[in-house]
Amino acid sequence: MDQDYSQFFKVFRRVSKAIHTGENTHEILERIVENISEILEAKGCIFWIVDQGQKSIKNMISHGFSYRSLAEIDYATLMAIFDDRGEESVFIEDAMYDSRIPNLDKIGKKKVGSIQAVFFDIVRDYRGILAVYFSKTRKLTKGEHDILQALGEQGSIALQKSLSYDDKMLDTLKQMVEGFTLALEAKDEQTHGHSIRVAQYAKCIAQAMKLTAAQTETMYHGGLLHDIGKIGMNDHILERLGILNRKEMDIVKQHPVIGARILQPLVFLSDVEPLVMHHHERYDGSGYPEGLKGNDIPLGARILTVCDAFETMLAGRKHFAKMKLEDAIVNLQLGAGSQFDPEIVLTLFDILDLQPESAGFTRASCGCIGIHKRRLQNSLKRKTASLFI
Ligand SMILES: [Fe+2]
Ligand SMILES: [Fe+2]
Repeated sequence: MDQDYSQFFKVFRRVSKAIHTGENTHEILERIVENISEILEAKGCIFWIVDQGQKSIKNMISHGFSYRSLAEIDYATLMAIFDDRGEESVFIEDAMYDSRIPNLDKIGKKKVGSIQAVFFDIVRDYRGILAVYFSKTRKLTKGEHDILQALGEQGSIALQKSLSYDDKMLDTLKQMVEGFTLALEAKDEQTHGHSIRVAQYAKCIAQAMKLTAAQTETMYHGGLLHDIGKIGMNDHILERLGILNRKEMDIVKQHPVIGARILQPLVFLSDVEPLVMHHHERYDGSGYPEGLKGNDIPLGARILTVCDAFETMLAGRKHFAKMKLEDAIVNLQLGAGSQFDPEIVLTLFDILDLQPESAGFTRASCGCIGIHKRRLQNSLKRKTASLFI
């Protein structure tokens, strides 16, 4: 253990310095989970940040497991596994035979033996769960447990700093978001108000889908920020959207990744980041940046894709005229299942049919919606029926 302790103290000093100098919290947490894995010779280490008030996982930093597979653990499952009942830590001797661990083959349950988790209060309802996994069954020594606890506490301090900073920054941030979107949209008269309208449609759809208040707020922020990655892009390129050459198009296609990178250090907006990252994916998998398909695309991003396209069609751009509402509706219907998640298009059609005022339309302007809604419903029924033939 002598050697482990010297490594631990080295890591501890480095992390303390990083917190003190205000380094990026996400990177500090990445360093912590990576070092815990190394020092304790573990298979993997994960730091979850949960919001017990909103009952959601706010963020997850891991080492030794892929992000995508772990993303499948939802809040309820996570809390069921690590039900601490007021204890300081939870020890699972053998994940293979423990009824709390669901049969998630994708997280490599078969390769996981013991799990040791410790818990931390952060701020407000935020709580940290730090878990270390071993490929065999193995209990931590008292010294190893102290290492886990000490580095986890360092992570919580970094988060406390960053979250209270987020609290103070929230109002400023909202103004900044507005400023960013205004600055972005000022580049082109026709994009003026685009982000706010996308945000309003996204909020309506979230409410119609009965998402929680927190998720609805996330959708609204996602709408406001979805194109934030365009902020640093050359005006010349942005003015020519629609008639770009291949090289210019490749640059524009970077904006979801750049946007996600801008938001990454802001823990408060961690739920918004994947929506920004994936708002140009297509339901059939032919979108960008990752070519995700169907339900692999985060639900919020699928909602934004519909809202983004709908608003763009209605507002028009320099290189294509604005469409009539009915033409935009027909295009959404035609793109349902290829570009768009059909259930989300149907939800938007329901809104236009039943409560058009909530999305800023009049009942008279939405007179055509009934027929297109029935067509979409029929084509969805046909697709479902064909699955059983
Ligand atoms: Fe975009
Ligand atoms: Fe957009």
